[in-house]
Amino acid sequence: MNTEKIDIISGDWAQGVARAGEILRRGGIVAIPTETVYGLAASALDDEAIKKVFAAKGRPQNNPLIVHISDIKELESVADDIPEVAKKLARRFWPGPLTMVLKRKETIAKSVSAGLDTVAVRMPSSKAARDIIASSGLPLAAPSANISGSPSPTTAEHVIADLDGRVDAIVCGEDCTVGVESTVVALFSSPPRLLRPGAVTAEELSELLPDLVIDSAVLREPQKDMPVASPGMLYKHYAPKTETFLVEGESDNYVSFVNSKENCAAVCFSDEANKINATKIVYGKKDNPYILAKNLFSALRQVDTLGVHSVYVHAPDKKGMGLAVYNRLIRAAGFKVIKL
Ligand code: TXA
Ligand code: MG
Repeated sequence: MNTEKIDIISGDWAQGVARAGEILRRGGIVAIPTETVYGLAASALDDEAIKKVFAAKGRPQNNPLIVHISDIKELESVADDIPEVAKKLARRFWPGPLTMVLKRKETIAKSVSAGLDTVAVRMPSSKAARDIIASSGLPLAAPSANISGSPSPTTAEHVIADLDGRVDAIVCGEDCTVGVESTVVALFSSPPRLLRPGAVTAEELSELLPDLVIDSAVLREPQKDMPVASPGMLYKHYAPKTETFLVEGESDNYVSFVNSKENCAAVCFSDEANKINATKIVYGKKDNPYILAKNLFSALRQVDTLGVHSVYVHAPDKKGMGLAVYNRLIRAAGFKVIKL
């Protein structure tokens, strides 16, 4: 791959992790693999380092970052007034793709939380991520390692395509196994609120949080001028440059619809592919939302290589992990949903 200025850390793992830790300790920014998507990490204690993360991504200043820890014990160094239920959730779902929003501890840089008095925190299951956090000796703030608004990166190549020349280093690890970002749940007020669906599903959370509310922005466009619980939900997100539509409906209807369109591509389920005349990208089987999630962002990135005018993505069911895929797709489509 042609790269400009990025320091690519691969090969000897122990040495690479030590080098990443060193760069982070001196205020640098490093892209790191996690089980969900690649993150762009910086010290959560260092306002100047956090500013570099916002600048590298072109991220709106009012969109707060998630803090990553490598051990459950570190939770108390990030958050204050931790409710008992947060500890229960941590014991059940950590390490893993669950982020909890709690009261922010003073030591966490204000810029991490974009001025809010809350902080989002998670302990990744990716051993690579935890090795790097431990090696830095710091809580690490890490948004997804993409240019703000573009599809999140699930491979080292995606990161390099977006951020070459903008970050100090990238640690190359395995491709991300989950493929969409962590579940975000707000626990600092009652009732608990699901802000972003992910691989820890609403159904699983409800077992420990029976009064869980699903924020209206999960499935709909937030109303202009309304207060939004999670600023990240305000923006068009995950979007290819090609005009994208989300299509809901039965398989036969979807196939006929796409076949009636010109100069377009389809992002479809595997059993539809051979019936579609247009260029197509298969993102998995309809009944396996975990595979749909894993392939989703690569598929959305691929769309822009096809040279078509528009793309029609067949929507998954909104149950379980399907809700996370649907949530990303309505944003990728700028909320343009066609119901057949
Ligand atoms: O899986 C993930 O969570 C990945 C990997 C790298 O860990 N990170 C990630 O970060 O997705 P990012 O910045 O792309 O998304 C963070 C989301 C945004 O929607 C943001 O608004 C929300 O978390 N968030 C962060 N802090 C918050 C807070 N204090 N209150 C409400 N929402 C918050
Ligand atoms: Mg992101």
